[in-house]
Amino acid sequence: MTETQTEATSAEGAELTHRGCPVVHTDYTQETEIFGHYALLDPDREKARFLFNDTTDRGFFMLQRYDDVREGFQQHVTWTTDVRSALRPGSSNERLLPQDLNGQEHVKLRRILNQFFAPAAVRRMEQMATERCIELIEELKPEGSIDFVAEFAIRYPTDLFLALLGLPVSDGDFFLEWSEDYFNALLAGRPAEATESKKKIMDYFDQAVNDRRENPLDPDLDMVTRLVTARIDDQPIPQEDITTICLTLMLAGLDTTRSALGYIFAHLATHPEDRRAITEDPSLVPNAVEEFLRTFPLVIQAGREVQEPGEFHGLELEKGDVVWLGVAQANRDPRKFPEPDEVKLDRAGANQHLAFGGGPHRCLGMHLARLELKVVMEEWHKRIPEYQIPDGTELRERGGQLTMTSLPLEWDV
Ligand code: HEM
Repeated sequence: MTETQTEATSAEGAELTHRGCPVVHTDYTQETEIFGHYALLDPDREKARFLFNDTTDRGFFMLQRYDDVREGFQQHVTWTTDVRSALRPGSSNERLLPQDLNGQEHVKLRRILNQFFAPAAVRRMEQMATERCIELIEELKPEGSIDFVAEFAIRYPTDLFLALLGLPVSDGDFFLEWSEDYFNALLAGRPAEATESKKKIMDYFDQAVNDRRENPLDPDLDMVTRLVTARIDDQPIPQEDITTICLTLMLAGLDTTRSALGYIFAHLATHPEDRRAITEDPSLVPNAVEEFLRTFPLVIQAGREVQEPGEFHGLELEKGDVVWLGVAQANRDPRKFPEPDEVKLDRAGANQHLAFGGGPHRCLGMHLARLELKVVMEEWHKRIPEYQIPDGTELRERGGQLTMTSLPLEWDV
């Protein structure tokens, strides 16, 4: 943002404002120590109801409090996903489906996809998800120490993602490397650097979709078969859109689950009372999953672009403005969740968090993510109930979309 766009201060040192909002310069994209981003986001939420952040070219208006963020997710008619991330408004050049669609077009595609992510469909995956989880844990257990983030937390969701697409889990050996390479370049805002891995991924999906055209399965049970046979407004879904959907699920589902697992296990490794409570009483796990998602939100924001001038509780918005829907700030808002910093495994109403967003773009994979987190917490603690982070370890987190860069864990063998 240039200063000419911002109403200047009246006196030296006074706060800048932009259309009546205090201006902040907080950069949420840098790597920090663990929990460094919440230490920036929480105080910003308390500065004023709405802020204008000028750290990107376009700047963005920040909604930060629980009620505002929840309501913001419902403004989907005039605030669209033409900007998906307030921090990287240009990232919308990389096509994603269904995210990039809005209105009826979005509803029609979601209707087709939802059935494969609904609770009943996810329940059908539970046995396979549990077996694969046990296999991976048993493989790692004799090692006595691992980097949990790199060796388990990303591998597990990758395997389930491949299974969801009806692809061999063993392809995870090479697929994981391509997806990591592509995702990291995308997050760094340099997708061109990963053209080779993106091409490998897209060729792989292309082949999988073609295989399914030749050998269709039951379209009620197999997502790719359903996508190749579905009609939207009497038209088949183009091959390119189907492969883009596969790519989107990969980008949306793997890093997020890895990240959630990292924060959960960092907490449990350092809070023996919570770890033992879960080990002794696994019925605590489903609510604990919600509480962890609430306390440690990793998708800290969703972006939107304003399509028509309007007003939101006194905040004047113009066409083209970028809005920040502050998921992390909402989840940690003391107005909604008392003592928001504290993990309370049995917190009442923990599942009212906004970690999965809200409104029509609410996370497609949320039931799958919940299943994955639940299964890992249950199966891990049955086999490795006691573990710790080695002394002297410094834990770091990536900015933008949070994840721990590494989480060394050790246990007795
Ligand atoms: C802990 C794990 C996860 C978290 C915290 C998470 C979070 C979110 C959030 C906040 C949104 C809304 C974005 C917006 O409104 O702009 C979203 C959307 C989405 N998520 Fe997730 N997600 C997770 C796991 C998954 C998984 C496992 C999948 C699929 C395999 C997935 C697929 C999607 C898709 C496709 C969308 C876009 C939905 C749409 O635009 O209609 N997510 N997710």
